[in-house]
Amino acid sequence: MPILLAIETSCDETAAAVLRGFEGVLAHEIFSQAEIHSHFGGVVPEVASRNHLVSAPVIIDSAMEKAGLRIQDLDAIAATTGPGLASSLLVGAAAAKGLCIGAGKPFLAINHIEGHLLSPFFGHETIPPHTALVVSGGHTLLLDVEGFGRYRLLGRTLDDAAGEAFDKVAKLFGLGYPGGIEIDRMARSGNPARFEFPRGMIDSGDLDFSFSGLKTAVRTFLEKHGTPAVVDLPDICASFQAAVIDVLISKLFKAARQNSRRVISLSGGVSANSSLRSRSIERAAGEGLEIHFPPQGLLTDNALMIAFAAAHHLAASSSLSPLRSDSVKKMLSELKKHLFPIYDSLLTDFLETCFNQFAVA
Ligand code: KG4
Ligand code: ZN
Repeated sequence: MPILLAIETSCDETAAAVLRGFEGVLAHEIFSQAEIHSHFGGVVPEVASRNHLVSAPVIIDSAMEKAGLRIQDLDAIAATTGPGLASSLLVGAAAAKGLCIGAGKPFLAINHIEGHLLSPFFGHETIPPHTALVVSGGHTLLLDVEGFGRYRLLGRTLDDAAGEAFDKVAKLFGLGYPGGIEIDRMARSGNPARFEFPRGMIDSGDLDFSFSGLKTAVRTFLEKHGTPAVVDLPDICASFQAAVIDVLISKLFKAARQNSRRVISLSGGVSANSSLRSRSIERAAGEGLEIHFPPQGLLTDNALMIAFAAAHHLAASSSLSPLRSDSVKKMLSELKKHLFPIYDSLLTDFLETCFNQFAVA
């Protein structure tokens, strides 16, 4: 069975995983920068990429050590190449490509959304036909999935992503970053029916979403009522959360109905939300639908979902050749353009690690 190393650096997590076949987890390492970015109330791209430069070699080393393997033992190396923060993506992709050239391995470029999309079926060799809702900090998408590689976009957010709405509203409430977890925690003891917030586009007739009106409604509410009293915060959080979830659930089940799918999936950071999970599980049971979520550890950004998507790409491709060095040179000059010159020494150290340390002797 092929063994893959995957690297994920699309946002503020530096992650590396080693996967054998579709289900053999040999390593699953994540360094979250959330604490660092919480001081700024959100992800600062330059800070994220600088920290990836420092932590990527450590996380990759650690994953390989946990797997008990050398780079030469791998069949291919994958990295997330988009969508995400340009300067962060480049760090993971440069590391993976550097290792590929050093060890003469094929490189697999993986789409971050496909990583989330397939994660509810982690371990499966076949992806069943289903309706998928991908809800993260950067994306809110509804897709019809025929099987691996056969995806049709049904709807998407026209403005903010659902997770982005959670994060921005949490900031308005003075809660920490990432906001989704904080709101989820607060909302558990709150009354979702106490305040009425708008359910954007719930009756739009299509499968698109909009969450910026909801964010504005919360801001207006706060301007009118002032900073919420601590005792009211659980009710406000629960009411806001219910507005987001009502729309997500309504459109997900509508999409499944329209496409005659009996299987549905939810993925991405927001699919960790306790109310979204319990309500969608209950509704699926009521409608006789099979429902899938990513396993714990694969909900928010991670490299194992990237490795799993890469395993499917590997299985679907008839031949892969080792990466050539000229494609990497272009990428490195891109990487340099995205970073301030002050980081040149860090960059040099990092590239030396990637190119030399693992190179075949
Ligand atoms: O998938 P992810 O790690 O990153 C992206 O690809 O964007 O998702 C992160 C998002 C953040 O917006 C975070 O607030 C949200 O997922 N999130 C949650 C919960 N846990 C994470 N939102 C609502 N409830 C949660 N329990
Ligand atoms: Zn993500």
